[in-house]
Amino acid sequence: MQPEPIAKRQINSFRERVTVIDRPLPEAEWAMVRAFVRRMEREDLRLRFGHPFDVEDEVTLRRFIDVKTGIGEIAWVLDEAAAIAGISHRAMVSRSEAEIGLIVRSDLQRGGIGEFLLREMLARSARQGLKTLSGLVLLENLAMLRLAAKIGYTPREVSAWTVELTFEVGQTSAAACTA
Ligand SMILES: CC(C)(COP(=O)(O)OP(=O)(O)OC[C@H]1O[C@@H](n2cnc3c(N)ncnc32)[C@H](O)[C@@H]1OP(=O)(O)O)[C@@H](O)C(=O)NCCC(=O)NCCS
Repeated sequence: MQPEPIAKRQINSFRERVTVIDRPLPEAEWAMVRAFVRRMEREDLRLRFGHPFDVEDEVTLRRFIDVKTGIGEIAWVLDEAAAIAGISHRAMVSRSEAEIGLIVRSDLQRGGIGEFLLREMLARSARQGLKTLSGLVLLENLAMLRLAAKIGYTPREVSAWTVELTFEVGQTSAAACTA
């Protein structure tokens, strides 16, 4: 049996509060990003970026978060107070493939935001003609592995610590989000 996708009502409420940016972030947006990372637990930063980092270190923050015109994309969902609740990243590595990353604010996890951002990224990528999204995940990252399993992924390369997940665009259950 297919796992239940997130509720349509919830999806619509996230959709009203989603922003997609495909160019370097303007200064006003950096204040929102800073507020977001300050609310992240170190462990969640480690799971997303490979190691925790000093969120007040502007150089590192910009290296991890900023978007390169032509190859990058950032998308976020706002909470009801207009603060960032979760962020997805996508960076093109070829004409048909992109690498992705996902992070949800520590106090808002398990509320469907990660699944929404991933499904939206897959749906957008399908519309744009991409074939594959891939992401490197630590083997201990049960939350991300379960989310990926719910959507439908293929493990590409497994090492002692990491697994590279690939999502075949248009062939996962992403459509459930766009119905
Ligand atoms: C992984 C992450 C993005 C998931 O986001 P989220 O908004 O908390 O997840 P959702 O509420 O959308 O959950 C969707 C599905 O993921 C799985 N899942 C999410 N969190 C889980 C957890 N803590 N334990 C087990 N499964 C979990 C479940 O299958 C869930 O479906 P269900 O609610 O029907 O059980 C979030 O935990 C996070 O930001 N972690 C830190 C950064 C990170 O690990 N990023 C991924 C590497 S790039």
